[in-house]
Parts: sequence; C-alpha cells; structure tokens
Amino acid sequence: MGVQLSPKVNRRYSVLASVILGAIWIWATFDPSYQLPNRISNRPLFGQVPEVAVDIFDFPALDSESIKSICGATQWNESVVFTCNESVGGIGNIKNSILNCVRYAISAGASLVIPSIVLRDTMDITQIRTGVKTDMSFMFDTQHFLDSIRLSCPSLKIHSSIEDIKDFHNPRDAISLLPESLVDNVPATGLPEPAAWRGQFYTWLEQFSTPEVPGPMVIDLGRSYLTYPIYSDGEAFALSFGSILKPRSDVRVLATKTLQSLAETYSLNLDLSQDILPKAFFGAHLRTEKDAVEGWPAPDWVYSRHETQSKAYLEQAPRSNSSIVYVASGDLNEVARFAVDASKASDAFTVTTKFDLLKGRDLEELQALKWDQQSLVDFLVMLKASDFAGIGHSSFAWNVALKRHVFAESKRHLDGPQMMSDELSQIYGEVRGYPEYAACLWP
Ligand SMILES: *[C@@H]1O[C@H](CO)[C@@H](O)[C@H](O)[C@H]1NC(C)=O
Ligand SMILES: *[C@@H]1O[C@H](CO)[C@@H](O)[C@H](O)[C@H]1NC(C)=O
Ligand SMILES: *[C@@H]1O[C@H](CO)[C@@H](O)[C@H](O)[C@H]1NC(C)=O
Repeated sequence: MGVQLSPKVNRRYSVLASVILGAIWIWATFDPSYQLPNRISNRPLFGQVPEVAVDIFDFPALDSESIKSICGATQWNESVVFTCNESVGGIGNIKNSILNCVRYAISAGASLVIPSIVLRDTMDITQIRTGVKTDMSFMFDTQHFLDSIRLSCPSLKIHSSIEDIKDFHNPRDAISLLPESLVDNVPATGLPEPAAWRGQFYTWLEQFSTPEVPGPMVIDLGRSYLTYPIYSDGEAFALSFGSILKPRSDVRVLATKTLQSLAETYSLNLDLSQDILPKAFFGAHLRTEKDAVEGWPAPDWVYSRHETQSKAYLEQAPRSNSSIVYVASGDLNEVARFAVDASKASDAFTVTTKFDLLKGRDLEELQALKWDQQSLVDFLVMLKASDFAGIGHSSFAWNVALKRHVFAESKRHLDGPQMMSDELSQIYGEVRGYPEYAACLWP
C-alpha cells in the first residue's frame, strides 16, 4: 500500500500541480521559441494529417553576381542556337557536361535548347551511350535551372524545345560540334585559352554560312566532359556555377529521410541543417559496380579493386569519430562484402545504406527510381558525411569531395598524401594523377 496523505495535503499537492501545469501551458503557448519535439509534431494524428516532406537539400534559385558580370559582358547572337543532348553516364558526368554546354553557350553568346540526358541501359549498366534521350528533369529540378538562368544570366535565352526556336525551319540542318575539338592538343587541365574559344567558334562556323537560308544556325554540342578550365572566370564563378543545377525534389526528400532515419536508428542527435555533420557517419563511395570495374579493369587498375578500396576506407574510417559507415554504392553484393570486411576491422564498424534506412513507402519510392536517380540520394547524403572517401577515377567522388572542400580548412588538398586530401575528404590515387578533375569539374 502506498503512503496515505491526509486529504488536506493531497489537496495542496493537486493545487500545486495545477499551477505548474498551467504555467507550462502558458509558457508553451506564448513562448515563440518553444517547439514541440519534432518526433511528436510530425507524426500524423489518426492517419489524417498528411506528412509534410522536409527537404534539407533545397536551396533558392542562383542569383550570382560573378555569372551576371560574365553574361553582361557577352555579345549575344540571336542567330546561333546550341543544343545539348549528348550528356551520358552518372551524375558527375552528366552534370559537368550540361554545365559545359551552358558555359560554351555563354562564350558564343548563343541561345540554348533546354538540355536533355541520355539514359543508361537498365538491363546492362555498362551501356551508357544508348541514344535514348530524356528530359533533364530525370535528374534535375528544371524550374530551378530556368529560374537560375533568368536571375544569373538573363540574356541567355533557353528554348523549351527545338520547335520553340524562332524562324527555325529545317532541323536536319543542325551541325554537330565537339566544342574542344576547335582547339589543338588540349592539356589535361583544360583549354589553355578559354577566352579565345568564341573567335575560334565563329571562324569555324563561317564555312556553314548560307546567307540565302533565313533563320538561325543550330549547333548540336557533343558531350564535353573534363575540358573547360573552371577557374578561368575566377573562383566565385567556379564555385557558384554548378548551383544552376539542383537535384530533383523527390530525390532531395528521400536523401533527407535517409539522414533522419540514420539519426533515429543510431540515436544520434544531429542538426541536419549543418553543411557537414560532425560525429555522425563516415561516407564511403564504394565504386566497384560493374560499369566501373569494366571501364577501369581491376587487374590493371589497383584502385578499381574491392580489396584496395575496402582497405583504404576502413583505415580512414576512425577519423570520422563515428562507428557508422554509410556506403554509397549501386551494388548491394559489394556492400555486403564490405560489411564483412568492416566487421573484421580492429574497430568494428556498422555498415548501412539508403536501402537499409528508408522504409515502407519511401523504400518503394527509391526502388522505383532508375539506377542513376538512386545514386543521387547517395550523392546528397555524402555531402553531409562527417568524413568522406572515394577513388580518383570517379567523377561522383570528386564532385562530392570538391563540394565539401569549400567547407574545409586545409586548402592544399592536391598536395597529398592522396590524390585529394583535406580534413573532410580523401580521394585515393597517386598525388597529381588526373589533374583534370580538380581543374575542370564544376563543384
Ligand atoms: C552571329 O552569328 C552569325 C552566324 O549565324 C555570324 O555570321 C555573325 O557574325 C555573328 N555575329 C556576332 C556579332 O558574333
Ligand atoms: C538534339 O535534339 C534536337 C531536338 O531537341 C534534335 O533535333 C537533334 O537532332 C538532337 N541532336 C542529336 C545529336 O541527337
Ligand atoms: C574527430 O575528433 C577530433 C578530436 O575531437 C577532431 O579534431 C576531428 O576534427 C574530428 N573529426 C571529424 C571528421 O569530425
């Protein structure tokens, strides 16, 4: 039996309790800084209230002074139109190719038909040049692209399709051009004189001039990858230009939910709005999928091997101050192999992926996406990892590391001990190998 209090004492306690409860109610109601814990406020009541999708990877349309000044100094030419429909591969490749198209359009003062994307073969991921084209919204938020161009480069006209080009009568007359082919012996660090490209382009274009045919000249740009020296317009331009492209919103929401689930699953108290999440997880990009291993055969390329990547990553893992390794990979068998390695490491690590962390309808939504769209979730998650590792022949890894580098204190990231090293990322490979990534990949 519990302690019996006299009725008088009892009443005194209940009065006190009411006063305290009342005070909490008043404070919670009127204090604007008080918020119910997220977990409670976000839970749909009786299954009626639709869940509000949070998107920590959203950002406004780009309004960049450095781009505006380059576009403002450009002489625009209504009679030249570029198309950009040869972009192939994964996010790192496609993003850079589209950005190069936009950059060359600015150089020529041309207008641009909204870029499209070549789809990878779903049955055989090694086949990237399928000729099957789709809209840029396959990966990116198209409205964000249009808004960013309107704000940062208002004179650059974007056509919604080839039919949208004024006075364009005969699409078969389009001319193909690989932009860098106008320059002899382009070094690995990209065009030596990007400012000269405009003149080279118009000289080349003269041979096709037919004054009797009215209407603009349409030039189909070939896939241009690591050839444009991104710092040639200054650092501000180089670091902001990539933000005209933003991953599509469903992928951003899935990436947000992946991180929320990671925090919940491993009881981590994370502020997801931070650029880099300290003491949260180590992000490892295991680039041993079939397409990479066939492209860079493992017998010749030591960094293509599972063993090499696994060993390097597990040696780096303790640096993250976390025992969780989030693996970015499009091959779950490879992840399982890595998980076995991780469990055997001297400090045992727990391995997780987006497929483990997303549940129910979110997981179904992820599985319904194409392989290259799924990898966008990893791309976003990796950006916030406490520490990151990848290999030197992956544009995905370089793109993640170069974006993270903006937040790093160590600026001598190309001086070793690995191909790229700062306190937030490591890209494995020979120091000074593949200079084209740091020089020509827009972060
Ligand atoms: C504009 O492009 C046409 C070719 O369509 C070219 O003949 C003309 O010189 C260009 N004008 C300028 C100012 O670059
Ligand atoms: C690019 O797309 C346009 C239509 O959007 C088409 O006319 C043109 O032939 C395409 N070029 C290539 C190389 O597929
Ligand atoms: C790990 O912790 C150490 C010591 O507190 C700190 O210097 C280092 O920056 C941390 N590393 C990461 C990736 O958070």
